[in-house]
Amino acid sequence: MESQTTYNYKVVRQFSIMTVVWGIVGMLVGVVIAAQLAFPDLVLWDGIPWLSYGRLRPLHTNAVIFAFGGSALFATSYYVVQRTCQARLFGGPLAAFTFWGWTVVILLAAITLPLGITSGKEYAELEWPIDLLIAVVWVVYAVVFFGTIMKRKAKHIYVANWFFGAFILTIAVLHIVNSAFVPVTLTKGYSFYPGAIDAMVQWWYGHNAVGFFLTTAFLGMMYYFIPKQAGRPVYSYRLSVVHFWALISTYMWAGPHHLHYTALPDWAQSMGMVFSLILLAPSWGGMINGIMTLSGAWHKLRTDPVLKFLIVSLSFYGMSTFEGPMMSIKTVNALSHYTDWTVGHVHSGALGWVAMVSIGSLYYLIPRLFGKIEMYSTKLVEVHFWTATIGVVLYIAAMWIAGVMQGLMWRAVNADGTLTYSFIESVERTYPFYYVRLLGGALFLTGMFFMAYNVWKTAAQGNVSDADDIIAAPAAH
Ligand code: HEM
Ligand code: HEM
Repeated sequence: MESQTTYNYKVVRQFSIMTVVWGIVGMLVGVVIAAQLAFPDLVLWDGIPWLSYGRLRPLHTNAVIFAFGGSALFATSYYVVQRTCQARLFGGPLAAFTFWGWTVVILLAAITLPLGITSGKEYAELEWPIDLLIAVVWVVYAVVFFGTIMKRKAKHIYVANWFFGAFILTIAVLHIVNSAFVPVTLTKGYSFYPGAIDAMVQWWYGHNAVGFFLTTAFLGMMYYFIPKQAGRPVYSYRLSVVHFWALISTYMWAGPHHLHYTALPDWAQSMGMVFSLILLAPSWGGMINGIMTLSGAWHKLRTDPVLKFLIVSLSFYGMSTFEGPMMSIKTVNALSHYTDWTVGHVHSGALGWVAMVSIGSLYYLIPRLFGKIEMYSTKLVEVHFWTATIGVVLYIAAMWIAGVMQGLMWRAVNADGTLTYSFIESVERTYPFYYVRLLGGALFLTGMFFMAYNVWKTAAQGNVSDADDIIAAPAAH
């Protein structure tokens, strides 16, 4: 008698739970820095170096992108690749290695960043020893993921895996190239690249981190969990394949839009702008494909809060991928750059799209990982949905208005050519918007606590062994 083969859900469970935990940690730090901008003089953080804004800001970005977003991607990619390939994760203990390795990376980041140990490259702040560990974990991740694809029982490779696969490969290349450092001490290395080349490599990395980490991979999530939750096939499978190739071939060239009006050659800036404008087409193609998957099942949106999370996340995806190309136009960027408009754009993508699609997917996943059909409280999911949605809208609306106001104030000139406003006047006028952003962020964070409670109750009532699906019935000999 052959022994039964089950999917490896343990690692999916571990990453799913940690997604909620890191989501709370990262967003809490986000709320703290939002409060620091709104109330800079508060004694709470006065004179404590590791609580200073400059150290906590990279802690926030690393925690939300790599700890929260990363864990959500590990969890969902491991789940989706197994289910769609009908195969257990390849490599035995390697999957567990990625979980513990990633956890160590996060803990090291949480220690070094508040201590002020940083490479100074945005979204790549961690110093070289941690970078090496990331590279090892990532290569093992690739081995597990592609190994599972190789040993699949289903003939077809479902489109979500293409998105996850492109993300894994690209992040490996970006990370290894951008982290080329000359080590000086254990906690200090200097970039391998000089001056403007360093800036270009950094933003080739930075933009593609957005493009592949915060976008392509989450589209993989979208292509599995929306059809599942809606109970309908993808609206157009052909469009999803076109979407994939168009997206990955365009994203790579758009990075220079982060360096408009800098020492970067002018032609490179214009190329970045043109490719950003082209990017609107595949982005919207994908969004429409996701939303139209609901055709024939629109009524489900009225009653199913999980679907609400997923579909609203796509609307934010559509919004931020319309806004991004507009901001990449040089004349628009001349107004938006350095202002809070950029921060509004970031969070319409990061909270509206990335966080909401992850939350929706986890609400689908968590009960199944604990042998249940539904979350402990669907009502609480509904409350979470509204708290989160109102939170994002307050956050981004405040930043848009603040950003445009700042841009206009900075460029206003009197008839004699002098500036109409001093810089400090624009800061003073921004305060009311910082209060609103703080409120929006606090609401979003509150929603995460509802989620943590709901997940905890679902897990407590669930049965792990019931959840571990058997891949193939044992063959009778
Ligand atoms: C409760 C939720 C959140 C709050 C209150 C919050 C707050 C903030 C604040 C105050 C900043 C600094 C802005 C500045 O320097 O002017 C920031 C930056 C940033 N946050 Fe968040 N955040 C939240 C969630 C997230 C999430 C979930 C993500 C990603 C998935 C994210 C990604 C980022 C990024 C990438 C930046 C840097 C933006 C830039 O350099 O332009 N945030 N956040
Ligand atoms: C078609 C898609 C997109 C295009 C063309 C685009 C374009 C842009 C542009 C022009 C900027 C401002 C650069 C500057 O002035 O410094 C920007 C900033 C940013 N965008 Fe997007 N965006 C897109 C989608 C997204 C999405 C979906 C997300 C998040 C999930 C996102 C995250 C960011 C981040 C984090 C920054 C701030 C980078 C920094 O300065 O630290 N973008 N984007």
